[in-house]
Amino acid sequence: MNSIVIAITGASAMQLGERSVQLLLENHKTVDLILSKGAYEVAKSERNINIPVEPNAQSNFWRNKLKVKTGKLKCYRWNDHSASIASGSHKTKGMVIVPCSMGTLGRIASGFSLDLIERCADVHLKENRPLIISPRESPLNLIHIENIKRLATAGALIVPPIPAWYTSPKSIDDIIDFIVVRLFDSLGEDLDKIARWTGPVK
Ligand SMILES: Cc1cc2nc3c(=O)[nH]c(=O)nc-3n(C[C@H](O)[C@H](O)[C@H](O)COP(=O)(O)O)c2cc1C
Repeated sequence: MNSIVIAITGASAMQLGERSVQLLLENHKTVDLILSKGAYEVAKSERNINIPVEPNAQSNFWRNKLKVKTGKLKCYRWNDHSASIASGSHKTKGMVIVPCSMGTLGRIASGFSLDLIERCADVHLKENRPLIISPRESPLNLIHIENIKRLATAGALIVPPIPAWYTSPKSIDDIIDFIVVRLFDSLGEDLDKIARWTGPVK
């Protein structure tokens, strides 16, 4: 079965990427997961978590942390340039970068494929496959805005992690689920964990 590539970069709120992986696996999907070099640093400074870099150890780490046995999960080193997903000949359903740092976003926008995430994003654009980017930064400077425009023009879908209030969220988990499910709506994957707008109460 074709996989969904999830990339988690060194922007704040890696819980969004983590919940994405959890929901996909719970829905019996196949996930290829890449953490950028920056993501490991953010996990340490923001959450005091040391995530193993070695792929098998990382896969076990996520299985234990997310408490999910279903689905298929394969983890990659951030600099594994010979990975299957670095080639356009390897088919995927699409790629979601969540959260996406301005560093990763800028490198993809300029075609500067330094690490596996940038290469994989580059492949999704060249193969005309879905590339969904959830940029996390505020405020945005003009360079960020121009990079976002460049990526949108090249075919990426820009889906910022912005919550909605019409669902009356009761917790941070509700807000995370709304953002994550709407991300995967953009990929045509129905993770169906949220209340959807049905019009005003009459
Ligand atoms: C705790 C922490 C939070 C950060 N949050 C953001 C953020 O929200 N957005 C962003 O663009 N960069 C953020 N950064 C900076 C990036 O991690 C840094 O630019 C890094 O080089 C990005 O690398 P990557 O794009 O390879 O993940 C943060 C850094 C730290 C340590």
